[in-house]
Amino acid sequence: MAMPPTVSWQGDAHTGVLVIIEQTLLPAELELLELTDLEGVIDAIVRLAVRGAPAIGVAGAYGCVIALRSGLGAEGLERLANARPTAVNLRWAVERVKAAAEGNAVKALAEARRIHASDEDTCRRIGQHGAALIRDGMGLLTHCNAGALATAGMGTALAPMYVAHANGVQFHVFADETRPLMQGARLTSFELSEQGIDVTVISDGMAASVMRAGKVQLVITGADRIAANGDAANKIGTYGVAVAAKHHGIPFYVAAPRSTFDAALATGGGIPIEERAESELRRLGATQLVPDRAKVFNPAFDITPAELIAGLITEDGVFSPAQIRAWLAGK
Ligand code: MRU
Repeated sequence: MAMPPTVSWQGDAHTGVLVIIEQTLLPAELELLELTDLEGVIDAIVRLAVRGAPAIGVAGAYGCVIALRSGLGAEGLERLANARPTAVNLRWAVERVKAAAEGNAVKALAEARRIHASDEDTCRRIGQHGAALIRDGMGLLTHCNAGALATAGMGTALAPMYVAHANGVQFHVFADETRPLMQGARLTSFELSEQGIDVTVISDGMAASVMRAGKVQLVITGADRIAANGDAANKIGTYGVAVAAKHHGIPFYVAAPRSTFDAALATGGGIPIEERAESELRRLGATQLVPDRAKVFNPAFDITPAELIAGLITEDGVFSPAQIRAWLAGK
């Protein structure tokens, strides 16, 4: 099946629409959603109809066009930038469009298109650098979805897999289902299998035992924000995967564009962690899973400390956390 773009803009700055894949319906239905007002864009980002750090950055950039042409100035842009707090790409993109646009929707669209094109190119380059890590016969493990559905290109963590697959390398991918919103089960397995990549979904609790069984030689995840010391925020559960990988001597890599690095934060402790509605854990569709009297805690992300990270796969190459620290110190 030919996949439509995860995020696109159709038309000019005055009457155009932001079109996204409605990801909450995947994999059962592949539907597109047209967004024409700022509230709709913010709602789509909050509901995870569009999600993944780079994709919400690109959607946020186009959202600025809608905000400016609707006469919603600084206040509208601020609400858009705050729609999801952990992924730094959203605020980064909104600030970039705001500065370039000077209040003008036509200039805003030109800048949003630049951000979009550069994300596509960035993903391709991450894929090329990361593919060198993948060898014949390997088992890979990933958490959440950091693929084409999370970016405007071929993804971050999944991009090396797409490039290696295109180069004829034979490997197998384990996709953690990723509780509670199931991005691994619903999205990663969908896009990898659509491209003919051998993928097995496992429950989050199985990752350590699959590693112990010797089935995983490499872990690659994405990131929503990386602090100056190399600590990385990613989907809740990533930290546990990194701890298990360390225990089993399996290299744990994080793939992310430079727009995900936040030089202003010294350590991961400063990264804001989004806490989402308890209903996401308490219920599964119409079925109640947790009794009303029990509490639930639903942070959407966790922090993997730099010492658990073997390397960071960026558009400019694969670097150790120490090399990234030196680069960010010079910024
Ligand atoms: O809550 P989500 O689905 O937006 O979380 C996404 C992730 O955690 C991804 O791994 C991260 O954004 C990197 S996407 C290339």
